[in-house]
Amino acid sequence: HYLGLDLGTSSLKALVIDENQKPLASATAPLTVERPHFGWSEQDPASWIAACEAAIAELNAKDPSLLAGVTGIGLSGHMHGATLIGEGDEVLRPCILWNDTRSHVEADELDDEESRGITGNIVFPGFTAPKLLWVARHEPAIFAKVRRVLLPKDYLRLWLTGEAVAEMSDAAGTSWLDTGARDWSPEMLERTGLTVEQMPRLVEGTEVSGTLRSELASRWGMKAGTVVAGGGGDNAASACGVGVTRPGTGFLSLGTSGVLFTASAGYDPVPDTALHTFCHAIPGLWHQMGVTLSAAGSIEWLSHVLKEKPGDLTAAVGSELKAPGRLLFLPYLSGERTPHNDSAVRGAFIGLQADTTREDMTRAVMEGVAFSIRDCLDAAPNASWVRQLIAVGAGSRSELWLKMMASVLETPIALPAAGDFGAAFGAARLGLCAATGADPASVMVDPPISARFEPETSLVESFAAAHQRYQAIYPTLKEAARRH
Ligand code: XUL
Repeated sequence: HYLGLDLGTSSLKALVIDENQKPLASATAPLTVERPHFGWSEQDPASWIAACEAAIAELNAKDPSLLAGVTGIGLSGHMHGATLIGEGDEVLRPCILWNDTRSHVEADELDDEESRGITGNIVFPGFTAPKLLWVARHEPAIFAKVRRVLLPKDYLRLWLTGEAVAEMSDAAGTSWLDTGARDWSPEMLERTGLTVEQMPRLVEGTEVSGTLRSELASRWGMKAGTVVAGGGGDNAASACGVGVTRPGTGFLSLGTSGVLFTASAGYDPVPDTALHTFCHAIPGLWHQMGVTLSAAGSIEWLSHVLKEKPGDLTAAVGSELKAPGRLLFLPYLSGERTPHNDSAVRGAFIGLQADTTREDMTRAVMEGVAFSIRDCLDAAPNASWVRQLIAVGAGSRSELWLKMMASVLETPIALPAAGDFGAAFGAARLGLCAATGADPASVMVDPPISARFEPETSLVESFAAAHQRYQAIYPTLKEAARRH
């Protein structure tokens, strides 16, 4: 058996699959995000360990013999977070997450021709390198103690195996990687006052990164020496899970953030479009993606405000696709990456009226997220090759949202039959590759599809018109944020 562990922003998921990749059991443990100041977003790394313990305990409670059969573990996690480690592997401060925008000044400073040339990307405030420059300036006593910087899932790995190791797909989101060469860039590290010695060792996602510590193995009833694969950032791992590992394939992820992801054969960066070009979790492959920071996160926000469960909100609007109404929503709750690279902008409802209902608001939020993903599609030069997008992430449980996406993106959307295993399933596949040495091409096959949503030709035009109205509002929001 193989175990996939996906450290998500709102929960940690554990999934066990068998030799034939059949899911056997899964468990989920919730996580919280702290937002102590404007633009800040943090998590306590101790909560990841507690969540991992809880998920493993839940699996063991379901079937005490299940984990004994596991020979490979794969890790996946939310990307870009800065976990600062001191002497004796002490955690120096809460992890600064991917949707934290405090380091926008430092990101602007680091973002230039040199950084774009080396990393293939804009230095976004959410990426790891500018966060370290921020810590050096605002928390110098902490910066002085930094012995290592680890990405979130790599901190989990340190605890699981005792080894400090990163893999290419997640490392590409730090702004410290020479993405074309798949190696740390001493130049980029130096620009944030760090050296290669402070970076973890690099492996490919399919390679062995270490083995499970014997103390954990015996406590959890697992085999001593169980292999832990490099794994992948959550997007690359999701791609492995749904077979998006060949050029011309793509997926749409509706997690807390929204991602439009395409696999590419070579390294072909286009930083000016705010598209991300990262290494894939498979050797010799790269990928591109556009990121909207608040996708299902926008529904989560609305559900908090309206004191309803996210699933109840989306269920209440039904599954019938209708032409967009008057109300527009711009989902810039944490600023935006693609296409605006604007950490200061904030979201808006436009067109509220005296009889606007919560259903109108829910529908507008769903449409607004679809429009922001359309912006990602328009930024991607290769996306026109993609014949269908596979839907993953919590938001893909809403049939209406997928229908809307198909019509707004003018691309068929395919829903995998296996349900929402996403990144945890991809991580388990990477665990399988590392444990058995299997060829990734034979492992990362297409998922069975349970439903396919085609663009609704009669509505494509009205969605395109609403998208234009949506696009016209951004300059005003940008200006409003500037004046605040
Ligand atoms: C990708 C990104 C998010 C996180 C959170 O660049 O920031 O998708 O990985 O899941």
